[in-house]
Amino acid sequence: MFGFGQLIDILKHNPKKIVFTEGNDPRILEASSRLLASNFLHPILIGEPDEIYQVAGDSGFNIRGSEIINPKDFPDMEKMVEEFCEIRKSKGITPEQAREYLLQNNYFGTMLVKMGYADSLLGGATYSTADTVRPALQLIKTKPGNTLVSSCFILVRPSATGDNEVLAMGDCGINIRPSEDELVEIAEETIRCAKVFGVDPKVAFLSYSTDGSGHGEDVDKMRNAARKTKERNPDVPIDGEMQFDAAVSPKVSQKKCPDSEVGGHANTFIFPDINAGNIGYKIAQRMGNFEAYGPILLGLNSPINDLSRGCTATEVYSMAIITAALA
Ligand SMILES: CC(C)(COP(=O)(O)OP(=O)(O)OC[C@H]1O[C@@H](n2cnc3c(N)ncnc32)[C@H](O)[C@@H]1OP(=O)(O)O)[C@@H](O)C(=O)NCCC(=O)NCCS
Repeated sequence: MFGFGQLIDILKHNPKKIVFTEGNDPRILEASSRLLASNFLHPILIGEPDEIYQVAGDSGFNIRGSEIINPKDFPDMEKMVEEFCEIRKSKGITPEQAREYLLQNNYFGTMLVKMGYADSLLGGATYSTADTVRPALQLIKTKPGNTLVSSCFILVRPSATGDNEVLAMGDCGINIRPSEDELVEIAEETIRCAKVFGVDPKVAFLSYSTDGSGHGEDVDKMRNAARKTKERNPDVPIDGEMQFDAAVSPKVSQKKCPDSEVGGHANTFIFPDINAGNIGYKIAQRMGNFEAYGPILLGLNSPINDLSRGCTATEVYSMAIITAALA
């Protein structure tokens, strides 16, 4: 079952570079000092070097060896402006407008990934989710074969025996009200991500109805999305629509959906919309003693992830490893 050891092993075999858009945030600097000490993931901090060294010094974090890039004196800025204009040419972006965008750390950092200066990016210690994700949507875009970017959370309940309980939940962070076909794509990406974290996915499409017990558009949407996902992935246990209790309780599942191959044992949950998903993962985190990692963005051409503004340095460190390992 999932432990950070496996992800660190991936990086030890293939070290990566990660951009932190908020280079002067003490939590980013603490996480960077830990990464620098262990040598498998190289941080690139964006911001004013004097300010970054000042904050690091005041907070007692050793960031010697980190790369600091200030957009204001980046030597390849003209090349970056040109590439930005090319990517956004359908929007008629002028070089002056591009330069303005690129003085913002979130856009600049995203272009560092786009142009191959770094493999991955982690932002959102102070930026909102939208401000971290939007540059990625506009510049990194969806990978071939995908039509949208979505997200999932990996939830881990540590166990004293080391046999941690690991769940995947999507999409709790990006798509506000996904359509039936978007839910199919979200489910397939969530399944892929769950496997990376050692989960053998048993997928429940969640609803307020189990197997036709309730009626409504949203019930139909979840039932149809589950059917389509199953048709495309016949080897994966997938079922829905089902209520959360039927998904996780063998006793309830016996009553509500006795023939389900998922009921009572689901570990990968697809939510009907962002309200349900965001509230759902936070209940597991705050009341179920699960550690929550995410939102892990799915379907992008390069790994870019968003932190919660309330994150701790340990969460930054963990998310940096997850983000880079996905590269
Ligand atoms: C992700 C989000 C920020 C995008 O919204 P937005 O910035 O208003 O997006 P826009 O509609 O202006 O689109 C910006 C670009 O991204 C693209 N885009 C938007 N959503 C996308 C998606 N899910 N997948 C792929 N591309 C997407 C658009 O096509 C557009 O591309 P273009 O500029 O090349 O034409 C928005 O969906 C959102 O706020 N989601 C909720 C985030 C949140 O609060 N989460 C809770 C905390 S985790």
